[in-house]
Amino acid sequence: MEEKVIDENKQGEALVLEAKEGNARKLYIESYGCQMNFSDSEIVASILAEQGFNTTQQMEEADLVLVNTCSIRDKAEQTVRKRLEKYNAVKKINPKMKVGVLGCMAERLKSKFLEEEKIVDMVVGPDAYKDLPNLLKEVEEGRDAVNVILSKDETYGDISPVRLGGNGVTAFVSITRGCDNMCTFCVVPFTRGRERSRDPKSIIEEVNDLAAKGYKEITLLGQNVDSYLWYGGGLKKDFKNATEMQKATATNFAQLLELVAQAQPKMRIRFSTSNPQDMTEDVLHSMAKYDNICNYIHLPVQSGSTRILKEMNRQHTREEYFELIDTVKRIIPDCGISQDMITGFPTETEEDHQDTLSLMEYVKYDFGFMFMYSERPGTMAARKLEDNIPEEVKKRRLTEIVDLQQKHSAYRTQEFVGKTVEVLIEKESRKSDAQWSGRTQQNTVAVFPKEHYKVGDFVMVKIEDCTSATLIGKAVGYSKVNN
Ligand code: SAH
Ligand code: F3S
Repeated sequence: MEEKVIDENKQGEALVLEAKEGNARKLYIESYGCQMNFSDSEIVASILAEQGFNTTQQMEEADLVLVNTCSIRDKAEQTVRKRLEKYNAVKKINPKMKVGVLGCMAERLKSKFLEEEKIVDMVVGPDAYKDLPNLLKEVEEGRDAVNVILSKDETYGDISPVRLGGNGVTAFVSITRGCDNMCTFCVVPFTRGRERSRDPKSIIEEVNDLAAKGYKEITLLGQNVDSYLWYGGGLKKDFKNATEMQKATATNFAQLLELVAQAQPKMRIRFSTSNPQDMTEDVLHSMAKYDNICNYIHLPVQSGSTRILKEMNRQHTREEYFELIDTVKRIIPDCGISQDMITGFPTETEEDHQDTLSLMEYVKYDFGFMFMYSERPGTMAARKLEDNIPEEVKKRRLTEIVDLQQKHSAYRTQEFVGKTVEVLIEKESRKSDAQWSGRTQQNTVAVFPKEHYKVGDFVMVKIEDCTSATLIGKAVGYSKVNN
């Protein structure tokens, strides 16, 4: 296993939505990378539905093929390049088909795409999707179209996304876009621009709408959810000064969580991603206060070495991270915690690597996403530091952390054996059509015999056995949430 990707089964899958009557054109859209990209593709599909497009899973019959791309590691970009070759082959059979590149790779390569990749007709960055109708017109008139302007305020708050190919149970709702953290290895601040927060009113409206449609779980999405901040406005004359006014009218992430939890007490609330330097105790208290906010935090650390963390421009030390973990466990004893980790960052020594292993030993994460450092053009690390750790060393260190994570995952799933936990049923188990698959609050997958239960039910499951990634059990009744 080289690396784990979130929701890997969905990567590159063509997305489908309910056909809109009267729409004659066909859109084929596939997405790569993070959950935000998948969520953005839903926004794109909504915008294009208004332009007469219905989705198709047959690329051969498409009028428009779109690919929402990821630039986070070189490998992600290589995958997209291979897909572009495939589109090219299809275009030879269906010359009227137009091809557009969306997302981070579009933003990173801009018009270079049109010069290098002859088959691309349209290049659209993550903040320019509302311009798609105009860009399409350009393309139809035979011109190439590019819009990669990044925005300081676009949040797509006014677009209600069509849900694509989902299970009808879980959905993503984006709350911030962009990132201001400038971790030195990361391309996101360049491809997704400055951080901005979405109006809580539009977030709650979307959540309420999802609840009305029968959804049972939502994940609030942002590159760094903890820095969510919305100023509610107000009248200046009622406050001492501007700072006082901002303080009094602001909604921070802990408050937003509570608003969402209160709006839909029967819905499970998750969020991703948290950043150790921005996570506050308030967030933990909000989680503890509401049963429907899941006891789970994705808390990437990237390295266990204070020196490397500093080189990465992460604003905390190894010790401060331990303190945060202790605080999480004190306030939410049964909290699931997962990590992201990078091996072979420039200058990483064996000692730094040992620090990473010992940090993992301290936390014993439930699971994790581990990657070899991939130099990204334009980032501070690429400019200032030589990518000097040999590939074999990166690989060996990666194997060591993946193996250790495997051990800890097994330890964590074992802890569930004998307990009865609440599981939200999402789908049929991949291994057996007689079993349901769902997740615990801690985000661990659980499978159990279907009996009379159905997708979308909250059930109590007695865990009898486990693998390192999956809990195996038997339903013992509905959860109280179900009533
Ligand atoms: N805050 C974001 C992080 C996005 S990138 C979030 O919402 O998850 C996801 C993960 O990719 C990072 O946490 C990091 O572990 C990894 N990553 C980012 N840049 C990388 C690079 N240049 N090489 C290898 N891994 C990288
Ligand atoms: Fe990237 Fe760091 Fe932001 S990993 S997305 S710059 S928090």
